[in-house]
Amino acid sequence: MEYKAKSEQVESLDSACVLVGVYQKRKLTPTASLLDGRLQGLLESLLKRDDIEGKVGDLLIVNHTGDQAIERVILVGLGKAGELTPTSYRAALHAAARALKATHAKHALSALHEAEVEGQTLSHNIRQFVEVLDSSLYRFTELKTEPLAPAPKINKVDFLVHGAKSIGAAEKAIQQAEAISLGVHIAKELANLPGNVCTPTYLADQAEKIGKRSKKLKTKILDERDLEALGMGAFLSVSKGSVEPARMIVMEYTGTSAKTKPYVLVGKGLTFDAGGISIKPAASMDEMKYDMCGGASVIGALAAVAEMELPINVVGLVPASENLPSGSANKPGDIVKSMAGLTIEILNTDAEGRLLLCDALTFAKRYEPQAVIDVATLTGACIVALGRHPSGLWSNNEDLAAAITVAADKALDRVWRMPLWEEYQDQLKSNFADLANIGGPDGGSVTAASFLSRFTKDFPWAHLDVAGTAWKTGADKGATGRPVPLLVQYLMDRAA
Ligand code: BES
Ligand code: MN
Ligand code: ZN
Repeated sequence: MEYKAKSEQVESLDSACVLVGVYQKRKLTPTASLLDGRLQGLLESLLKRDDIEGKVGDLLIVNHTGDQAIERVILVGLGKAGELTPTSYRAALHAAARALKATHAKHALSALHEAEVEGQTLSHNIRQFVEVLDSSLYRFTELKTEPLAPAPKINKVDFLVHGAKSIGAAEKAIQQAEAISLGVHIAKELANLPGNVCTPTYLADQAEKIGKRSKKLKTKILDERDLEALGMGAFLSVSKGSVEPARMIVMEYTGTSAKTKPYVLVGKGLTFDAGGISIKPAASMDEMKYDMCGGASVIGALAAVAEMELPINVVGLVPASENLPSGSANKPGDIVKSMAGLTIEILNTDAEGRLLLCDALTFAKRYEPQAVIDVATLTGACIVALGRHPSGLWSNNEDLAAAITVAADKALDRVWRMPLWEEYQDQLKSNFADLANIGGPDGGSVTAASFLSRFTKDFPWAHLDVAGTAWKTGADKGATGRPVPLLVQYLMDRAA
């Protein structure tokens, strides 16, 4: 899809499809009003007829305008003027994207960004539309032999803006949105692949390929011998139950002086999590192919950062493995030694994510990071606690937690802070090792984060549990690409 900022008078517009807003009740936005003048009152007459009220997401597709040069108009409801929030604006954009996909127009021109959205700028409004459109046009086609229904025809969207300053801002917003969309797309494609295709080795190969997009990206893959030499006994204990060998993906982006300390992103990369000997129930187990969504989001975020050429340094670490039951798998009660030297009693082999992550987090220390953020589909308990709207956020550093929350709100990829209190550590006590890998039924997402905190004392660290946000379940089952928008926004803010 091609996006452009376009400066033109409504009187001289020529377009296959124009998107404009209507406020509740039946009030045209400024551009819609000008367009109405050009169309000799057509829009007002439709409003009078009560064909659209203007509630958020209301749609009226006008397929014939009587004007040779304007083939269609899509009116999009924006709710009450002055009351539009970022989330309701995005709901309106989703409706607009749906309408646009349904028309046969190849080109469209939008003025929806002129809506006044609480606390948002023109750039944010434009960015949201690009991200929403790209995301709603996404289809996973790779493994279908018959083509799906024909793809929507739309391939070019212009944004109507006036004045040099706005045009500049719009062009920049489009570029940023395209980079974020690229990251989201990469994350979705990797995540939607099934476990028999997307193995740890496949994921590593793809990361290497993606790494070749930019000279500033260097990708290294550590194999099991390397991991052994590093002493990653916790990580390796998970992969020994599978015939697929483990991999640690290391992506290093150098956007500024090599001496500048990097931000490190760590993503859980379980290409399939059956639970191991503590096997999961059969229902929905297929969705555990998504247990590498954290890793996919880290790879996507690095691609986006490289695309934007942000002047910072960023490292992405993705420990990748399968978690399967077998004769060589971890058994409940087994004790393993982590790279940090702490011994861990594996009371439940299904709490495997933390076993990979603790070693990857220990490895992160050698970068002397400014901050480390790990992203993981870590616990079902996080979904119980927060539902599927925010990702869970834990942090040992107030400034980092605040910066992530700000970025999450800006990117509309929201988080909710959770506690990381000393009291929870009691639940992780083991009679036989330094700590246990589970903390019982209470506060499962918190004890998982508390486990990780034992390995992150030396740097500012945050943990994002994306179990409820990384993919959608049910009829529109599919990866969401979250939290790529949040990660990239956080890094953009650091670069600014
Ligand atoms: N990958 C799962 C977490 C998960 C489950 C995410 C369902 C999304 C949906 C993780 O490895 C896991 O199995 N966690 C266990 C931890 C428990 C054994 C302490 C869980 O959540 O049940
Ligand atoms: Mn598990
Ligand atoms: Zn898992």
